[in-house]
Amino acid sequence: MGKDTLSVTDNRTGQQFEIPIEDGSVRAMEFRQMKVDDDDFGLLTYDPAFTNTASCRSAVTYLDGEKGILRYRGYPIEQLAEKSNYLEVAYLLTHGELPTRAEYVKWEHDITIHTFIHENAKKFMEGFQYDAHPMGMLVSTVGALSTFYPEAKEIYDEEVRQLEIKRLIAKMPTLAAFAYRHSLGQPYVYPDNDLSFSGNLLNMLYKMSEAKYNPDPVLERALDVLFILHADHEQNCSANAMRAVGSSQVDPYSAIAAACAALYGPLHGGANEAVLRMLNEIGDVKEIPGFIKRVKDGEGLLFGFGHRVYKNFDPRALIIKKLAYQVFEVTGRNPLLDIALELERIALEDEYFIERKLYPNVDFYSGIIYQSMGFPVTMFPVLFAIPRTAGWVAMLDDAAQKIARPRQVYIGAEQRDFLSLAKRNSTGG
Ligand code: CMC
Repeated sequence: MGKDTLSVTDNRTGQQFEIPIEDGSVRAMEFRQMKVDDDDFGLLTYDPAFTNTASCRSAVTYLDGEKGILRYRGYPIEQLAEKSNYLEVAYLLTHGELPTRAEYVKWEHDITIHTFIHENAKKFMEGFQYDAHPMGMLVSTVGALSTFYPEAKEIYDEEVRQLEIKRLIAKMPTLAAFAYRHSLGQPYVYPDNDLSFSGNLLNMLYKMSEAKYNPDPVLERALDVLFILHADHEQNCSANAMRAVGSSQVDPYSAIAAACAALYGPLHGGANEAVLRMLNEIGDVKEIPGFIKRVKDGEGLLFGFGHRVYKNFDPRALIIKKLAYQVFEVTGRNPLLDIALELERIALEDEYFIERKLYPNVDFYSGIIYQSMGFPVTMFPVLFAIPRTAGWVAMLDDAAQKIARPRQVYIGAEQRDFLSLAKRNSTGG
């Protein structure tokens, strides 16, 4: 039986080091002892996109990209998507275990009573341009909530932290819906606490003059399943933003604003918006070969394909593809589906995509479902942020977290003397 250590020889000095291996990882700080002389700072590890660097230890989500496995707290995503609901999953993520019946009833009640936002937050929303992007509005207003709850700064107070977790999960749909209604110039609809989490969101988005909004049960469930699938995904770009910003001990509203901002980008939560725009641009199945050629020539990306971690298939994409057909039973078939299916078929047979292990990811079909449910593309990243809030806040309690402060490999100029403007040449030197 071998030892759980790594032997390293520094060929610059001939020195040997034995580094402990713990949970399949070595501590980067172990390399600092490797120096060419006493003045040397020590060896750094260089990993600009954290492609092989664990930034934390976590018991929340397990992901095996080669095998296409995703589990929250040990439960396979397929089982949760089939048997659970978003609120229960949010409890699981934030508490570590599934709730008992009594715990669930209390949790649902506690979330529900926090769905309203302060009237001043509503006024704040009104200040945005009529055509403001709802995700931009969400980023700003969720950050602004910290000014309504100054006690949220007490991040080590367990009671306060639990309260802010509930507030955040509960208020994100309300902020999202208000942002949507604002962009349409429609009056805001207040939460209906008789409805489910996703049913209430549909109510706040779509209710008009009817006395009571009754969500379609298929669409309500489909939205809930989409929320389960998007609830967490271990250390992705926005989770990393949440951790990095939260590590400064700022309040969770400000950290979530940073996470939302990260999610806004087209390579992350903005990808389903990009997928829809791409499908619309392609416009017709017969244009697909030309489009694929342009992607292969480096003229653009096939949005909704590829993943930093999944190199075989994205288990969420399989669930979403099935869900799409259930939604279309109610809404009618989205014509973009044919383009998506053909695009997928061609890409999966193409050497370029096979070689690079590029497969449909969660965003490839989610946009088509959202569009069929009546959401404009600008709402897609917002619909991602609502459920991901549970995953973000599940990370709030990490005793090992210190302020995130990466090192850099400096490759700039050596020390040099400042020259006055009159003495500088054309390159400034
Ligand atoms: N279309 C065409 N080529 C691609 C794509 C794509 N979607 N994704 C990666 N490649 C190519 C890339 O050009 C590179 O080629 P080469 O080796 O010739 O330079 C190779 O595949 C490896 O790609 P990479 O950029 O090094 O991979 P990454 O792990 O850094 O990026 C990714 C992962 C998700 C950012 C990327 O695949 C991508 O940009 N996909 C499109 C955007 C997208 O769908 N994002 C949603 C991700 S899932 C939801 C979420 O996490 O938010």
